[in-house]
Amino acid sequence: MTDVDSVDITSRRVAAGWDDAADGYERYFVPRFAPWLAARVRALGDDLPPGPVLVPCCGTFPELDVLLAAFGDREVVGIDLSAGMLRVAQRRIADRPGITLVHGDASAIDPHWSGRCAAVLSVFGLQQLPDPVRAMRSWTAALRQVAGFRSYFGRTSTNPTARSRA
Ligand SMILES: C[S@@+](CC[C@H](N)C(=O)[O-])C[C@H]1O[C@@H](n2cnc3c(N)ncnc32)[C@H](O)[C@@H]1O
Repeated sequence: MTDVDSVDITSRRVAAGWDDAADGYERYFVPRFAPWLAARVRALGDDLPPGPVLVPCCGTFPELDVLLAAFGDREVVGIDLSAGMLRVAQRRIADRPGITLVHGDASAIDPHWSGRCAAVLSVFGLQQLPDPVRAMRSWTAALRQVAGFRSYFGRTSTNPTARSRA
């Protein structure tokens, strides 16, 4: 994962934009996007292998409640470039154990996670990234088995029940 201090100027601008949008995003978009998000978590199925679930581009982390409802006490790691979005995410985590936030560029997942993760779930994240193919390579490398990869690419459908596996 590229540390946030090392990202280029374009990524800094992207992050600054999301910093400004964070409170409004949480208030306006999160409730409206909930059906899409729940559909993506359901698409993970109920037979995940052991290991953490990574959530690249987690934003304010609306994935968290749905993931915990589905998978109980599994370790969940949210990654996002925007400090402002992560500040809102931190409120959602409160003092729940096993939940971590990482402030960084999710285009390349830290090799530390390679082959260890039960799932990688990204909702409305991939289309944010300058090189989605590179990101998908990195995200799938984090998996124990490739069946655990789900990314919802926002432009492909407005139907929350549509399948959009990448
Ligand atoms: C549309 S929001 C989605 C947030 C959340 N997944 C959801 O479904 O509500 C997109 C998020 O991608 C993040 N983002 C954009 N570029 C990123 C990058 N290179 N690495 C990590 N996060 C990034 C933004 O900061 C923002 O929080």
